[in-house]
Amino acid sequence: MASVSTKYTLASRVKLADGRTMPQIQLGLYMMSRTEAQKSVSAALAVGYRGFDCAQMYHNEREAGTALRESLASSAGLTREDIFYTSKLAQNRASYDAVRASISKSVSDCGLGYIDLFLLHSPYGGKQARLTSWRAVEDAIDAGEIRSGGVSNYGVAHIEELVAAARIQPVVNQIESHPFNTRTDIRDCCKMHNILIEAYAPLVRGMRMQDATVLSLSKKYSCSPAQLLVRWSLQHGMVPLPKSVRKDRMIENADVNGFELTTEDMSKLDSLDEHLVTDWDPTDTE
Ligand SMILES: NC(=O)c1ccc[n+]([C@@H]2O[C@H](COP(=O)([O-])OP(=O)(O)OC[C@H]3O[C@@H](n4cnc5c(N)ncnc54)[C@H](OP(=O)(O)O)[C@@H]3O)[C@@H](O)[C@H]2O)c1
Repeated sequence: MASVSTKYTLASRVKLADGRTMPQIQLGLYMMSRTEAQKSVSAALAVGYRGFDCAQMYHNEREAGTALRESLASSAGLTREDIFYTSKLAQNRASYDAVRASISKSVSDCGLGYIDLFLLHSPYGGKQARLTSWRAVEDAIDAGEIRSGGVSNYGVAHIEELVAAARIQPVVNQIESHPFNTRTDIRDCCKMHNILIEAYAPLVRGMRMQDATVLSLSKKYSCSPAQLLVRWSLQHGMVPLPKSVRKDRMIENADVNGFELTTEDMSKLDSLDEHLVTDWDPTDTE
């Protein structure tokens, strides 16, 4: 059973259904240039981040990996096992060999020896491509190239399709989730199958920092809007992936232990749902 601890620090880890663990708050690396990714990963490591969410589509796997390797080489006490690095397959394919080669390229590009969590970035491509790509993920796990496998942007039908066909079950579904797009349907389905939710765009990409409810609750809890939003994800048992290129914000976004949202205030935030899509929504593709 996937479970989440009640202490939310950069050192806390959550347990995945395959028995492995991963950091409870991780840095998102989307929309970072190569230079920004390298600098941000180094800065985040220095302030205590251990989880990094990368992807083939972000075009910064090499730079993220370089920053991680340099930190491993220079800081005594930090080992590869302390770091949790995620990447994602850009495109599902019907060619098993093409997907295996693509996974191997990601492993080689980051230079970390293996990838902790590898996700199918979306359900696009149709059933055959999805299931063939997943078979490649399973075999890459067996081969030691990746440790855990999961998916992203999978809707309920995609999860049911995968769970029914998989030899190795997915342990993560990374979806957009925040008070303005809660996705309770997908979260409920994943919970039933012991699949942990990683919440992307946990800060609503900055689009709702001035919302009246967000502002009034931030005032009530003496926290920033960003901290309120991160806390909402955590209290719902999700792993948030706040992105920032700024060190002060990296620290702020993970400094969420000084308050606890009441059940009533969690519901107040839940009720803000307007199905706001900040980027893309492949969850109902065929
Ligand atoms: N699987 C998928 O399809 C998918 C899709 C989207 C995202 N993701 C993942 O999820 C991560 C997070 O999502 P996201 O990057 O789209 O959005 P986000 O984390 O919700 O928001 C990032 C934005 O908020 C700003 N920000 C950060 N901290 C802030 C703070 N304390 N106060 C005010 N503004 C702040 C950032 O600017 P600065 O950088 O200038 O601070 C950036 O503009 C991504 O980086 C990626 O790893 C996955």
